Amino acid sequence: MKLTIIGTGYVGLVTGICFAETGNTVTCLDINMEKISFLKNGICPIYEPGLENLLHRNIKEERIFFTTDLNSAVRDADVIFLALPTPPGADGAADLAHIMSVAASLSNVITDYKIIVNKSTVPVGTAEKVMKILSKKLPRELFDVVSNPEFLREGVALEDFLKPDRVVIGTHSEKVKEVMTSLYQPFVRQGNPIYFMDIRSAEMTKYAANSFLALKISFMNEVANLCEKTNANVDMVRIGIGSDERIGKRFLFPGIGYGGSCFPKDVLALHQTAKEHAYDFKLLKSVLEVNKQQKLLLFHKVYDHFNGKLKGRRLAIWGLSFKPETDDIRDAPSIDIIEKLLQAGAIIRVYDPEAMKNLSARFGNVIEYAVNQYGALEDADALLIITEWSEFRNPDFDKISALLHSKTIFDGRNIYDSDKMDELGFHYESIGRKTITHKNNIHEEESTDNRSRRFLRVASM
Ligand code: UDX
Repeated sequence: MKLTIIGTGYVGLVTGICFAETGNTVTCLDINMEKISFLKNGICPIYEPGLENLLHRNIKEERIFFTTDLNSAVRDADVIFLALPTPPGADGAADLAHIMSVAASLSNVITDYKIIVNKSTVPVGTAEKVMKILSKKLPRELFDVVSNPEFLREGVALEDFLKPDRVVIGTHSEKVKEVMTSLYQPFVRQGNPIYFMDIRSAEMTKYAANSFLALKISFMNEVANLCEKTNANVDMVRIGIGSDERIGKRFLFPGIGYGGSCFPKDVLALHQTAKEHAYDFKLLKSVLEVNKQQKLLLFHKVYDHFNGKLKGRRLAIWGLSFKPETDDIRDAPSIDIIEKLLQAGAIIRVYDPEAMKNLSARFGNVIEYAVNQYGALEDADALLIITEWSEFRNPDFDKISALLHSKTIFDGRNIYDSDKMDELGFHYESIGRKTITHKNNIHEEESTDNRSRRFLRVASM
């Protein structure tokens, strides 16, 4: 089949490359010329494991093409996918400007029947708005509009696309059902379902799925906070409740709040949709509040530990992306934490395997960037773990002890065993577990000047 994907962001690229992989001829369109020229040369603008390899293969096999020309991209297409950004507007509702403007452009260039599939996350009723725009210039029999939300997780997007738990398709047209089934059949051969439903339900499914997951995480974050106060251990509670199949083991890990390009904006948008329909969605309001509070939890722990004396305090941070295996820092807790620490006067040196470039675009030289994880530590008063990258899970603790000025770790992702940290003599604070306290964990004092000099020298390596 001939497919056109409009928008080469995260969703668009993964969708295009995966459909090319199953033998379709795919044209990816974007208005960003630089991005298109990178992609033509096989360079992926985002970090997603495995994606660049598949990109190379499909370029070589001439199954995927990149262009900025709408006319030629649309002319031969059987199916056109919209994979455009829907960022939150001022009131939190999804901003549909990109979708609407592309719909208007499509209405000028379509001359024969096309299936237009919306992959972007859009509020209920958007497909109808798109149809209305198209109908202004096109007879109704020249197009169908379909809702086909994606459930890709960054970092494992290929796996999610190639082996989806389910495919959701909103349409009433039998012709569309047939086409969509043949497109997705290669990915659901192991028996996972394709669910056909009305368009509005498909649009709502995406928001409900993401909001429910955000709710699940937020619930566990609150349970963890309460565990700390009651001296219970959230690790045990998590295992205890997760083995009940009605609850499920996944997405019960407490931490420092969810981030990324989906949960924050989708919870906000669904909350706004409810508001527009005069419905007070109380649970979602709480999810928003809990997450805001949780994102600053680590800051408050650091602040309390140092009795509010953060001015001139040197802090090392491991992990900046909103989760491992991505360079994405959108709505990442690291941003909120770093901002608060800077306001309090702390000196910060960070390390992340993939996200440093994105973070430096935001913070510039107000913070220091280390060349590797240990480079972030020397002479720091504490290490903060913000993202659970694999390489942080089993580090050389002797090296950490030797480099840190004080053996203090604030772990926002519970990646270390508390007993082990106790044995190793660390002051160790995590989420929903008891704090391990150790006195005398500060290296022999030396002049502040010496330490400052060394800290800055290491940072500029
Ligand atoms: C999410 C959805 O999972 C996906 O289906 C949708 O299409 C897009 O949004 P993504 O944002 O890539 O995917 O990441 P995900 O792995 O779902 O994690 C989201 C956030 O939740 C991260 O900040 C992560 O750290 C946090 N999280 C996840 C927890 O705090 N605890 C958990 O147990 C799981």
